[in-house]
Amino acid sequence: MLGPTSARKASSPFARLNDRLAGIPAGQAPINLTIGEPQHPVPAFVAPVIAENIALFGRYPPVRGTDAFRGTVARWLDRRYQLATTIDPERMVLPLNGSREGLALAALSARQRRPEIEKPVVLLPNPFYQAYAAGAEVAGAEIVLLDDGADARSIPDLGRISDDVLARTIALYIASPTAPQGDVATLEDWTRVLETARRFDFMVFADECYSEIYRDVPPPGALQAADQLGSGYANVLVFHSLSKRSNLPGLRCGFVAGDPDFLAEWMRFRNIAAPQVPGPIQAVAIAAYEDESHVADNRAQYNAKYAAATAILGPNIRARTPEGGFFLWLEVGDGEAAAVKLWQEAGVRTIPGAYLSLPRPDGSNPGTPYLRVAMVQDLATTQEALTRMARVLG
Ligand SMILES: Cc1ncc(COP(=O)(O)O)c(C=O)c1O
Repeated sequence: MLGPTSARKASSPFARLNDRLAGIPAGQAPINLTIGEPQHPVPAFVAPVIAENIALFGRYPPVRGTDAFRGTVARWLDRRYQLATTIDPERMVLPLNGSREGLALAALSARQRRPEIEKPVVLLPNPFYQAYAAGAEVAGAEIVLLDDGADARSIPDLGRISDDVLARTIALYIASPTAPQGDVATLEDWTRVLETARRFDFMVFADECYSEIYRDVPPPGALQAADQLGSGYANVLVFHSLSKRSNLPGLRCGFVAGDPDFLAEWMRFRNIAAPQVPGPIQAVAIAAYEDESHVADNRAQYNAKYAAATAILGPNIRARTPEGGFFLWLEVGDGEAAAVKLWQEAGVRTIPGAYLSLPRPDGSNPGTPYLRVAMVQDLATTQEALTRMARVLG
């Protein structure tokens, strides 16, 4: 069943977990696998680039980014997605202070873009990244969940949404790789989504922050599908981040690219209200997008951890290796009970799947049977955590 949920639904899964585990001592030395915060080393080029650009901390940074930042990002997108219609760095790229603020604030401009809609809708996958719901809430939109449990993959299917709902839709959030499941949208998936978005004139907010954390094959992107349709980049924005790609979650830097008309309007708002990205940080981002070797090294490290998960969790706990991302999405019966047990008996901190999703209209919550395990620690720490998990849950 697809259907609306009431407003005020965004909540922090980490705050919820803190409440749930308050007063329960860790059974062993704690290992934190809750937050998707990569613990691989910060790349070596970061410190020298900041040092070289230190004087820029003495200036307010340009909200729309430096020419060099936008140019580097546009060229990276052209290369990564082999775009025939190249990205115009003047009109189609903006820096973000991490993709989170962009994902949330974009909903406000999606609302302003369609003021004639009386009861606006934002379409969300389920589970989803909480910033999407925060954006929908502040935009005054009704959240409609795209999860009806009918798909083996977690890529939402718009074919089952009624035309009435699509006509009221101002934006769709869709992540690929999906988070936490790690499924990858094909070019055909993106094309279908984009064609529907254009038919009903809503925005597609493609969260591609895990796009570079893949096993073997680079995930196709939403811009790539738009490019192949051949009619420009209207109705689509992609959100990227250095947090996962380059192990820089504390740098707070990402970008948004796509629909130039949307970005022009959004820029008016961002120019007076949104967080800027400091100059030295933009310089680091340029260096990061010009280097792929640290990203390939990251992928190899995550692949080794998935191999460890398969070997250590073994036949008792099925640890599917997803196409992308760095999570295990384990089916454990009752995710919350498993999270409490893991903490209490083994000091391993994980997130219950239900904290990342909302109940469907029939009351069932698709996250309830699952546990999310962020494999962000180094290999040895991850192996230790997996060994404890096999003991407690196996
Ligand atoms: C699915 C998803 N999207 C977006 C983000 C935001 O990342 P950042 O703001 O660090 O770019 C995260 C961070 O955990 C995420 O998991």
